Amino acid sequence: MSRDEVQFQSILQELKRHARDDAPFDIKHAFADDSRRFDTFSLVFDDLLFDFSKCAVNIKTLQQLEKLAYAADVPGQRDAMFAGDPVNVTENRAALHVALRAPKESQFFLDDRNIVPDIQSVLIRMEKFSGEIRRGTRTTANGDRFTDIVNIGIGGSNLGPIMAINALKPYHDGPRCHFISNIDGAHVSDVLGSLDPKTTLVIVSSKTFTTRETITNALYARRWIADALGEESVEKHFAAVSSALGKVADFGIDQSYTFGFWDWVGGRYSIWASVGLPLMLAVGPQQFRLFLAGAHEMDEHFRHTHVSINIPIMLGLLGFWYRVICNYPTRSIIPYEQRLLHLPAYLQQLDMESNGKCVTLDGSAVSTPTGPVVWGEPGTDGQHAFFQFLHQGTDITPVELIIFINAHEPNLQSQHNMLLANCLAQTEALLYGCSYETSYKKLISSGIDVAEAKKLAPHKTFPGNRPSITIMQKLLTPYALGRLLALYEHRVVVEGILMNINSFDQWGVELGKELAATLLPVVAGKEEAGLHHDGSTLGLLAHINAYRREQ
Ligand code: F6P
Repeated sequence: MSRDEVQFQSILQELKRHARDDAPFDIKHAFADDSRRFDTFSLVFDDLLFDFSKCAVNIKTLQQLEKLAYAADVPGQRDAMFAGDPVNVTENRAALHVALRAPKESQFFLDDRNIVPDIQSVLIRMEKFSGEIRRGTRTTANGDRFTDIVNIGIGGSNLGPIMAINALKPYHDGPRCHFISNIDGAHVSDVLGSLDPKTTLVIVSSKTFTTRETITNALYARRWIADALGEESVEKHFAAVSSALGKVADFGIDQSYTFGFWDWVGGRYSIWASVGLPLMLAVGPQQFRLFLAGAHEMDEHFRHTHVSINIPIMLGLLGFWYRVICNYPTRSIIPYEQRLLHLPAYLQQLDMESNGKCVTLDGSAVSTPTGPVVWGEPGTDGQHAFFQFLHQGTDITPVELIIFINAHEPNLQSQHNMLLANCLAQTEALLYGCSYETSYKKLISSGIDVAEAKKLAPHKTFPGNRPSITIMQKLLTPYALGRLLALYEHRVVVEGILMNINSFDQWGVELGKELAATLLPVVAGKEEAGLHHDGSTLGLLAHINAYRREQ
């Protein structure tokens, strides 16, 4: 089967009518009317609970969304991705990141060739390398043990490792890990400034090995090592992760310190490939394999479970419902887990670089909104910053809360109970809100006089009926993290299929890179600003010139 556009458009119109006719759908009343609502609108996969009962949907919504998934051929497109078809149509590439986490005996074909042995052989080399570094048998130029790793990379070559290493701190028994991504010299200066080159291993991570930020920072780090230890020491202090092996060799990094991957792995899907090397160094090969296994479990669920009980598909359908049918421009992701502090940024790239598109697969303008703005911060910190907006702002933002039942700190169980209570309380507060009458009564019973109560009550009124999804797992382990990330990857793909866009390219990042290259000599004072620049840019350049220090 393939996408049936006529059918799709007709269901889309039906869904829009349904949203309009039932608006505002009262989630609170839906619970009052149906004591089994939670059972109907939640899914369980082992210990992972996916609760979407606090969403503004009913059975009819789900039925229509399910029909929409079939009209867009979500199952067929999913299978095409798993089959290695060139689903990334603008680059004529497969998107086979799922193969990276498949068990070694499985098979994934690309151009009639099973690619799993290639994947496993890189993994085995990574395991050997990280085992040696961790044990101290692969040493620094002076024969000492490496104490620190610096990952130099940006976007997908930074966000995955930094997010996962923070997430898995309780498992971190390898060298300390640091990250340099920004072209801002402050970043490389601050990170290297706190380290000893004698015991630091630098990993240059770049799929293309052409990214300006990464190569510039890597060259700086190379000088830092060479100046401190001598040019001959560089080879023992530099490793590379890339799909451009020739460029790595030109940079001067030894083959035995180089870990490849393939063009069919998108940067934002590359944590499962050698981009995960810093994570493996931090937590060890065994935990890294469990991370892959968790993702694979979710892949299997996504691949083989019926649409109506398929968690990534349901998350994608709900995302589509809120973004396209309800027209909510953003979604907020709140991990109630401090160690997932980089997860919102990671998901921001995954989602916004994948689905921030304005043309369909055939290049025509899209007729519906595409991917939303994705943003968030860990709870409870976010509660004291922007939750005001979520509860009383004029825009509705669907909220996705991620929480783990148990903590890694048994001695701090009481704090974890407070964390759990806060998470549940926020979902209830979003749902129930607080009416004017209730606020007024509360004020009166606190002893405030009638005039003052009337004045204050509107400010203390919460509209409620604000949707949320809760994703809960037993404990934040490597396995659970792998499962969670794969869930979000597939959700993004599902939304992309529904929107009929290419979720695997990112042409929108190129123009700014080109213009930065042409502006550099002007900013550096080596060229005059051409008159083709707009008035604002010329004004900004003039201001820089007026105040710049002598270089
Ligand atoms: O500029 C965007 C981007 O291409 C991302 O897609 C990618 O993750 C990042 O840059 C880094 O690219 P590379 O790994 O090739 O250095």
